[in-house]
Amino acid sequence: MNTLRLVPESRGGQSEIFCGEGAFQEQLPRFLRAHAKRFVFTDSNVSAIYGDLIKRTTGADGLFVMEAGEEHKTERTLFALLSAMAEAGLHRTDCLIAVGGGVVGDVGGLAAALYMRGIACYQVPTTLLAQVDSSVGGKTAIDFHGVKNLVGVFSQAKAVFADPLFLDTLSPREVRCGLGEIVKHGALNGALFDRLFAHQNGLTDLETLKSLVFDNIQFKASVVAQDEKESGVRKSLNLGHTTAHAVELALKTLSHGECVLIGMIFEAKLALLHTECDEGYLNELIALCKAALGGAWKLPSFEETARNALLDKKNTEAGSVVVTAPVKKGKYCLLSLPFETYLNETEQIRRELC
Ligand code: GLY
Repeated sequence: MNTLRLVPESRGGQSEIFCGEGAFQEQLPRFLRAHAKRFVFTDSNVSAIYGDLIKRTTGADGLFVMEAGEEHKTERTLFALLSAMAEAGLHRTDCLIAVGGGVVGDVGGLAAALYMRGIACYQVPTTLLAQVDSSVGGKTAIDFHGVKNLVGVFSQAKAVFADPLFLDTLSPREVRCGLGEIVKHGALNGALFDRLFAHQNGLTDLETLKSLVFDNIQFKASVVAQDEKESGVRKSLNLGHTTAHAVELALKTLSHGECVLIGMIFEAKLALLHTECDEGYLNELIALCKAALGGAWKLPSFEETARNALLDKKNTEAGSVVVTAPVKKGKYCLLSLPFETYLNETEQIRRELC
């Protein structure tokens, strides 16, 4: 069992993280003994496979199961959950246990932060993406007014339990989705990059991925510890995400992680055009992203897609697009491009790739 304590420099809430076999069934119950009532929040997919195990392990006094899917990350789900918590009679010393992927973690974390101005929240991430990224670092949110994560707070879970038992039932696409954020961490950390590059022909092998989860958690936690509220170094975790979000908005058929891999390919190619970068390394990173993406993927013209990048939160002036681009092993830069340049170059890159 690997463990670490995330202590943000800002002295926000601390989070204990357990990663490995037994995290869920052995470690979580130790924490739950401190609470008179335990309320479980999960989704329909997780409940169908693990519902009985979850009830047995948590001794849940209350349960709310949301419909699975990104499209349900809404105020409607949030308030339905809060109603169920109120109906269960939860008090401030009780707790919420969020068992699921990124959506369950984000909505559950937000509900726990809001209910009675904050009750204890335990995160049990069940997807690869949630284990290596979204369950760590205290970001909670719902999508609102057509904008992803518009309403939310930073609120660290009391503890996170990343258990490999949940990874065995993931579909290949869900595995690829987590790989997007794993490769992104590799682009920001040389040691992780070397490990991934050494495994590039077996990137979707589950045992390999399980062996990488804790390193990814450690890396993410080290970034969050320095900059919990994303005013500095945490922005690096947006690497590849300007183009990723633009593609994600344009093409609802690709998952977030697949879009992150595509975004990194485009932004590495933009770095080749505009920065003093390490060309050999960037070509290796591009090869790694392509290996993680697997088979053929097609993107439509960037004429419309590129316009979505104008909405990115990192942009500092009207008419320009900021990307967090990889430049050298473990190094990134913020690159601000006039919109016309971004549009023409991303369209050219798309034609070369697809
Ligand atoms: N997923 C990026 C972050 O937590 O900051």
